Amino acid sequence: MQFPEYRGRRLRKNENLRRLVRETKLCVDDLVYPLFAVPGKSVKKPITVMPGQFQLSVDYIAREAREAHELGIPAVLLFGIPSKKDEQGTGAFAKDGIVQHAVKRIKNEVPDMLVITDVCLCEYTSHGHCGILEKGSVQNDTTLEVLAETALSQARAGADMVAPSAMMDGQIGAIREALDENALEEIPIMAYCAKYASSFYGPFREAAQSAPQFGDRKSYQMDPANSDEAIREISLDVSEGADIIMVKPALAYLDIIFRAKQEFDLPLAAYNVSGEYSMIKAAAQMGWLDEEKSMLESLTAIKRAGADIIITYWAKDLAKALRK
Ligand code: PBG
Repeated sequence: MQFPEYRGRRLRKNENLRRLVRETKLCVDDLVYPLFAVPGKSVKKPITVMPGQFQLSVDYIAREAREAHELGIPAVLLFGIPSKKDEQGTGAFAKDGIVQHAVKRIKNEVPDMLVITDVCLCEYTSHGHCGILEKGSVQNDTTLEVLAETALSQARAGADMVAPSAMMDGQIGAIREALDENALEEIPIMAYCAKYASSFYGPFREAAQSAPQFGDRKSYQMDPANSDEAIREISLDVSEGADIIMVKPALAYLDIIFRAKQEFDLPLAAYNVSGEYSMIKAAAQMGWLDEEKSMLESLTAIKRAGADIIITYWAKDLAKALRK
C-alpha cells in the first residue's frame, strides 16, 4: 500500500481510533514495586536522589505494601539496609535481618501481596561489593554459599519469590539446589540474568547505601557494549533453573529486552532502574519534562520491546494513571 491509497493519519484522527489500533497497553498486573526497608519504628526517610521514594521501617513498609495492594499492584521487591554492615555481609542471611523482618511484617498484614526479595550482599557488606572479598577481589564460589544461605533465610521468612542480583556465576543453580534441599522447591527464582555494570544505578546506591567502597562492579556485572553475552547469560540461568528472566537496566537496553523476548519463552522482566526514574524526576522538577507523559512513554517502550513484567519505582503512580 502506498500514498495516497494508504494514509496513516486516518487511524490517528481521534483518541477512539487510536485506542482501537493501539498495539501496546500498560497494565497494573505487570508491575513490581521496589521498596527499601530500614531498622527502627515509624521511619519514613525521603531518598533525596529519588524523589517520591523512601527508606521505610517495617511498620511503614507494610503500610506502603497495603497501599500498593489497594491500587492493584501484584508484587513488591524488597531491599534492606541493615543497622550494621560487616566484611562478610552476614546481615543478609540473619534470622532477624531487616529484609526477613520486613517480609514477615508484610505477609502478616497484607497476605495477598506477593513479596519478592533481592538476593545480594552489597547492601550488607562494609566494602559494598556484591560478594565475599579475598585480597581485594570478589570470590565467586565462596559467595555462592552465602547467596544460597541468604535466599534460604528469605524464603524461610516467608518470601514468595527470590531475585538473585549479585551476578556471580552459578548463583541460580546454587540457590535452586539450596531451596530444593530444604523443601522450598515451590519458591520461584526471578534471575537478574543480564545485569549490566551501569551508571544508572547511581541513585539506588545512595538509597541502599551500597556503593562499592573501592573499585567498581565491572568484574561481575556485564559490559554495556555486549549483546550476545546477554543471551549466553540468560541461557545459563535458564539451564540452572530460572523461572523468570530479567534484563537490567531497561531503557538503554531495549534491544536486549527485544532479543531476550525473541529467543526465550520464559516470562521476561525488565528493571526500570533508579537512574531512569531520577532523570525524569529531576527534569520534571526543573519544568523541562512532563513527568506523567515521560513515565508513560518510557514504560510503554519497555513493554513494547518485549517485557512481560516491569519493575518500577513509578508502580503506584502508573497504577493511578491507568485508573484515570
Ligand atoms: C544489587 C542491586 C542494585 C540494583 C538492584 N539490585 C545495584 C547495583 O548493582 O549496584 C539497582 C536498582 C536500581 O538502580 O534501581 N543488589
